[in-house]
Parts: sequence; structure tokens; C-alpha cells
Amino acid sequence: MIFACLRRQHLRWFTVAGLSCLLLVTLVTAAHAAEGDNTTCLGCHNIPGLSTQLGNGEALSLTVDPLVYNASVHGAQGMQCIACHTNITGYPHPKLTATDRRDFQMERYTQCKTCHEKQYREALDSNHQRELASGNRNAPVCTDCHGAHDVQKPNVPPQRVSTTCQKCHSTIYDQYATSVHGAAVLAGNTDVPVCTDCHGSHKQEDPSTTAFRLKSPDMCGKCHGDAALMQKYGISTDVFNTYVADFHGTTVTLFEKQHPDQETNKAVCTDCHGVHAISQVTSANASVVKENLLVTCQRCHPDATANFPDSWVGHFQPTREHYPLVYYVNLFYRILIPAVIGAMALFVVLDAVRKIINRFKRKGA
Ligand code: HEC
Ligand code: HEC
Ligand code: HEC
Ligand code: HEC
Ligand code: HEC
Ligand code: HEC
Ligand code: HEC
Ligand code: HEC
Ligand code: HEC
Repeated sequence: MIFACLRRQHLRWFTVAGLSCLLLVTLVTAAHAAEGDNTTCLGCHNIPGLSTQLGNGEALSLTVDPLVYNASVHGAQGMQCIACHTNITGYPHPKLTATDRRDFQMERYTQCKTCHEKQYREALDSNHQRELASGNRNAPVCTDCHGAHDVQKPNVPPQRVSTTCQKCHSTIYDQYATSVHGAAVLAGNTDVPVCTDCHGSHKQEDPSTTAFRLKSPDMCGKCHGDAALMQKYGISTDVFNTYVADFHGTTVTLFEKQHPDQETNKAVCTDCHGVHAISQVTSANASVVKENLLVTCQRCHPDATANFPDSWVGHFQPTREHYPLVYYVNLFYRILIPAVIGAMALFVVLDAVRKIINRFKRKGA
């Protein structure tokens, strides 16, 4: 009787222990499986208003919107949170060391390097990296231009490139946005230059150097020397060739080859047309429209008078329509010079023949 009772109690005890064990195992496996899972992370990080304090007292918001993340280039691929946050394996997390929010971002952006090493290396040779190195924490790192949880294709739509730069270069952006190039970009045109076509995105040259200035006509020439592209807009491609042939361009071209690092004061495209605020050449505010041209030349030719701009025949090969005087003078020389040289040659030949004939005549006599 007692025995039977004991056995029954034992049985009950075993059942309870077994069930508890099973529950524990299930919990542990479940927790293990979920440790690196986005749903686990988001279980806490989806809570609105979740935040922590950084060293200087600044609040760091910890809420991540799963909808935003899932719509990013990374989230759309089902990328795990821990693919970037490699230092976090569960909770509690390693202790935060950043003193303020910028410090936190600067610590974290290097995560991108794991998968985008090419861009990371290129960015080491940029104006921004040089600024960062000199202590300017406002210069951008990967996440300032691309974001962290909301990374999108950076050049879709094409306007996105220039609005990325607008965040910090708003004065230049505003000039650009109303220029012949920028206005076209904002209207969806992809034939015109965006900021990075001239400056680069990751690897960037310092635009204040002489080398950059000397190379700048080639930058414009890439498109303005492209006949198929320019034909679409009825723009002459002679602009590049005639520039190289004219006294400004010739000197710049020669100069670039001989003294790539020395200052030059010769005009490049942007001295006449502007840089970020380039207008259609016929527009009333264009620096090269007839009414403004003298002022543009005077920046370097301070003594220039009203008829000075006429000394420059512009970009066009002179034709009967454009610069008829130059055209006829050219034509005149094209006829006169061969005629004169031809006549002289003929004279020399005739004279020689005459002398030979005379000699034969004398011998025969
Ligand atoms: C139990 C809730 C909880 C879970 C689960 C959790 N976190 Fe956190 N997380 C926090 C809290 C609270 C903080 C505030 C700082 C602290 O306590 O360490 C934080 C801070 C952070 C931070 C900012 C500070 C730092 O250390 O970089 C990151 C990034 C982060 N969590 C990522 C994750 C990732 C990725 C996961 C999933 C692997 C995750 N968290 C899972 C609660 C959680
Ligand atoms: C593509 C890399 C990447 C992925 C994927 C990623 N993070 Fe982050 N996360 C970062 C970076 C970089 C920061 C630093 C903050 C910044 O630069 O804005 C950050 C910051 C955080 C912070 C601190 C608060 C904040 O927003 O600054 C939390 C919390 C966090 N991440 C959680 C998550 C969670 C949860 C996931 C997954 C749903 C995730 N992260 C996925 C790169 C990533
Ligand atoms: C674990 C690897 C990994 C990490 C870490 C990572 N990425 Fe990515 N990234 C990818 C993959 C994969 C793609 C998708 C590539 C594709 O679609 O061709 C991508 C796409 C991108 C794109 C779009 C590229 C395009 O051609 O449209 C950008 C921009 C980008 N990542 C920026 C970042 C930034 C900024 C960080 C750091 C906050 C980061 N990535 C961290 C793997 C990663
Ligand atoms: C100053 C802003 C800026 C910074 C800083 C920046 N990028 Fe970009 N990135 C861009 C732009 C704009 C593009 C679009 C392509 C273009 O116009 O050159 C781009 C393109 C990309 C692409 C797509 C592939 C490609 O090369 O075109 C990836 C991936 C990328 N960036 C990752 C990174 C990473 C990683 C970092 C940090 C090391 C970084 N970017 C820093 C602006 C930036
Ligand atoms: C987060 C802010 C930020 C963003 C975004 C940014 N820049 Fe900058 N950039 C700076 C700072 C800060 C400097 C340092 C010089 C200054 O203050 O102008 C700088 C300097 C430069 C310089 C050199 C200027 C000089 O005088 O030598 C160029 C060129 C430049 N950026 C181009 C770009 C382009 C192109 C983009 C977009 C792809 C871009 N930047 C996006 C902050 C930014
Ligand atoms: C058609 C080519 C071109 C485009 C497009 C262009 N830039 Fe520039 N940018 C230049 C040239 C050339 C210089 C050097 C100007 C000089 O010599 O004074 C320059 C100079 C700069 C400088 C440094 C000098 C200054 O004026 O502060 C910054 C910063 C800059 N650009 C940013 C941008 C941004 C941002 C965009 C897009 C909104 C952009 N650029 C679009 C050609 C361009
Ligand atoms: C990526 C190609 C590209 C680059 C680089 C480029 N342009 Fe243009 N440019 C265009 C296109 C396309 C148009 C016509 C836009 C339109 O009419 O909508 C244009 C228009 C112009 C016009 C107005 C012509 C007219 O119709 O009156 C001038 C002036 C001009 N560009 C000068 C320059 C200068 C100077 C540079 C170098 C600093 C330059 N462009 C660099 C593509 C380019
Ligand atoms: C950025 C400065 C700059 C601008 C703007 C400029 N020039 Fe010049 N120009 C020069 C320099 C420097 C020389 C001397 C070239 C040499 O010695 O080879 C020169 C030479 C000339 C010459 C050759 C005769 C001479 O005086 O030496 C003519 C003609 C001329 N420029 C016309 C113009 C006209 C017309 C404009 C306006 C449409 C103009 N320039 C705008 C810098 C400039
Ligand atoms: C010395 C000043 C000066 C320089 C340097 C200069 N331009 Fe011009 N550009 C003008 C003037 C003036 C006009 C308008 C009258 C004309 O077409 O000759 C013009 C017209 C244009 C046009 C409109 C052509 C058309 O078909 O309507 C384009 C595009 C252009 N320039 C681009 C350039 C490029 C690219 C460079 C450098 C390779 C350059 N310019 C150098 C003064 C200059």
C-alpha cells in the first residue's frame, strides 16, 4: 500500500520534472535560434521612444522602424541586423563608449567597410576625408550621404545625387538648381552633369588647385565635344575645339603640359560661363550674353573697352553667317596666299626653264 503510493508519487514527480525540462529546452533553443534574428532585435528596438544617454548627457534614440529598414537596399535582401552590428550578439550589449551622437556615428560607420571595401578605400582620397583628418567632424562619412537603416540606391532617381550634397552645400546647390544643367537634372534629364560627374563621390580632387583648374576644360569637353549628345540640344561642339585653338585655350593646354602645378591666369570655360550657375548663353543673366560680356572680359582685361569682346570670335568657326568679316578675311587669305605663292613658284620654274633653253641655244650655235 505504502509502496504503491510512493510509486504513484514518484511517477508524478518524474512527469513534472520531465515537462519542466522540455519547456526549458524549448525556451533555450528558441532563444538561441532567435538571438541573431531581426525579430529579436526589433522586439526591443521597435518600441517607440526607446532611448539611452550618451557620455555627455545627449539622448540616443534606439527605435528602428522595421518598415523603413525592410524597404532599404539591405533590408530588402533580408540582411540581418548583426551583419552590420557585428559586436552585438544578444542582450546585454557591450558597454557604450561614445561621448556624443557624432562620436557614436563615427565609431559605427566603419561597419560598411566589411562589404564595401572599394568605396571605403576610394573615400580615403577625398576632400571630406582630408577635412575629417584635420579635425572637422562635420565632413561626411558613409552614413551622412547614404544613411544607416534607410540606405537607398544613391543615383535613383538621378536628382538624389545632388540633393545628397545639398544637405551641406546648400548655397552651391541653389545656384546649381537654377543653372542650365541643374534645372534639367531636376526635370529628370540624365544628359546633364550632377555634382559627382565633376567632383566624384568617393574619390575627390581638391577643386581649389591649379591642376583641377587646368583640367576643367576636359571635364566640360567630355559632353560638349560629344557630337551625338550635343546634336540633341542643337548646341555646337565647336566650343571645345575652338577653345583649344584660341589664345586662351592654347596657352592653357601648353601650360598644363609644361607646368602642371603653377598658377595660371588664362581663361578656362568656367571663367566666362560660371561654374555652378551656368546659364543658357542667350539668357539675359548669362555672363556671356552681349550685354554682360565686357564685364566678364574685364575681370582679366581691366582696360578692355566696349569693342574689346569683338576681338574674340567666339566658339564658332567663322562662316558667312557668324562673323562674316573674319570669314571673308580668312577667305581672302585662303585665296591670296596660295595665289601669291603659286605665282612665285611658277615664276621660278619658268625662269629656270628659260635659262636651260637659253644654254642649249648657246651650245647649239
Ligand atoms: C531586451 C531588449 C533588447 C534586445 C533584444 C536588443 N537590444 Fe539593442 N539595446 C537595448 C537597450 C536597452 C539599449 C541601450 C543601451 C544598452 O543598454 O546597452 C540597446 C542599444 C543598442 C544599440 C546602440 C548602442 C550600441 O551598443 O551600439 C544597438 C546598435 C543595438 N542595441 C542593436 C541591437 C541588435 C542588433 C539586436 C539584436 C541582435 C539588439 N540590439 C537586441 C535593448 C535590446
Ligand atoms: C547596413 C548596416 C546596418 C544594418 C543592416 C543595421 N544597422 Fe543599426 N546602425 C548602423 C549604423 C552605421 C549605425 C550608427 C548610427 C548612424 O550612423 O546613424 C546604427 C545604429 C543603430 C542603433 C542606434 C540608434 C540609431 O539609430 O542610431 C540601433 C538601436 C540599431 N542600429 C539597431 C539596428 C537593428 C535593430 C537592425 C536590424 C533591424 C539594424 N540596426 C541594422 C548600421 C546598420
Ligand atoms: C554584410 C555586408 C554589407 C554591409 C556591412 C553593408 N552593405 Fe551595403 N550592400 C550590401 C549588399 C549585398 C548590397 C546589394 C548590392 C547590389 O544590389 O548590387 C548593398 C548595397 C548598398 C548600396 C546600394 C548600391 C547600389 O549599387 O545601388 C549602398 C549605397 C550601400 N550598400 C551602402 C552601405 C553603407 C553606407 C553601409 C554601412 C552603413 C553598408 N552598405 C554596409 C552589403 C553590405
Ligand atoms: C559625399 C557623399 C558620399 C559619401 C561620404 C559616400 N558616398 Fe557612396 N555614393 C555617393 C553617391 C552620390 C553615389 C552614387 C554614384 C555616383 O554618383 O558616383 C554613391 C555610390 C555608392 C555605392 C554604389 C556603387 C558605386 O560605387 O557607385 C556604394 C556601395 C557606396 N556608395 C558606398 C559607400 C560607402 C561604404 C561609403 C563610406 C566609405 C560611402 N559610400 C561614402 C555618395 C557618397
Ligand atoms: C554632411 C555634410 C556634407 C555632405 C553631405 C557633403 N559635403 Fe562636401 N564638404 C563638407 C564639408 C564640411 C567640407 C569642408 C569644406 C567646407 O566647409 O566647405 C566639404 C568639402 C567639399 C569639397 C571641397 C571644397 C573646397 O573648398 O575645397 C567638395 C568639392 C565637396 N565637399 C563636394 C561634395 C559633393 C560632390 C557632395 C555630394 C556627393 C558633398 N560634398 C556632400 C560637408 C559635406
Ligand atoms: C559642370 C561641372 C560641375 C558641377 C556639375 C558641379 N561642380 Fe562644383 N565645382 C566645379 C569646378 C570647376 C569648381 C572649381 C571652381 C573654381 O575654380 O572656382 C567647383 C568647385 C566646387 C566647390 C569648392 C569651391 C566653392 O565654390 O566653394 C564645392 C564645395 C563644389 N564645387 C560643390 C559642388 C556641388 C555640391 C555640386 C552639385 C550641387 C557641384 N559642385 C556641381 C565644377 C562643377
Ligand atoms: C554630363 C555632360 C555635361 C557636362 C560635363 C557639361 N555639360 Fe554643359 N550642357 C550639357 C547638356 C546636355 C546641355 C543642354 C541642356 C539643356 O538645354 O537642357 C548643356 C548646356 C550647357 C550650356 C548652355 C548652352 C546653350 O544652350 O546656351 C552651357 C553654356 C554649358 N552647358 C557649359 C558647360 C561648361 C562650361 C561645362 C564645364 C564646366 C559643362 N557645360 C559641362 C551637358 C554637359
Ligand atoms: C580668367 C582671365 C581671363 C578672362 C575672363 C578673359 N581673358 Fe583674354 N586673356 C587672358 C590672359 C591671361 C591672356 C594672355 C594670354 C597669353 O599671354 O598667352 C589673354 C589674352 C587675350 C587676347 C590676346 C591678346 C592679348 O591681349 O594678349 C585676347 C584678344 C583676349 N584675351 C580676349 C578676351 C575676351 C574677348 C574675353 C571675354 C570674352 C577674355 N579675353 C576673357 C585672360 C583672360
Ligand atoms: C573667353 C570666354 C569664353 C571661354 C573661355 C569659353 N566660352 Fe563658351 N561662350 C562664350 C561666349 C561669349 C559665347 C556666346 C557667343 C558664342 O557662341 O561665341 C559662348 C557660347 C558657348 C556655348 C553655346 C554654344 C551654342 O551652340 O549655342 C557653349 C555650350 C559653350 N560656350 C561652352 C564652352 C566650353 C565647354 C568652354 C571650354 C572648353 C567654353 N565655352 C569656353 C565665351 C567663352
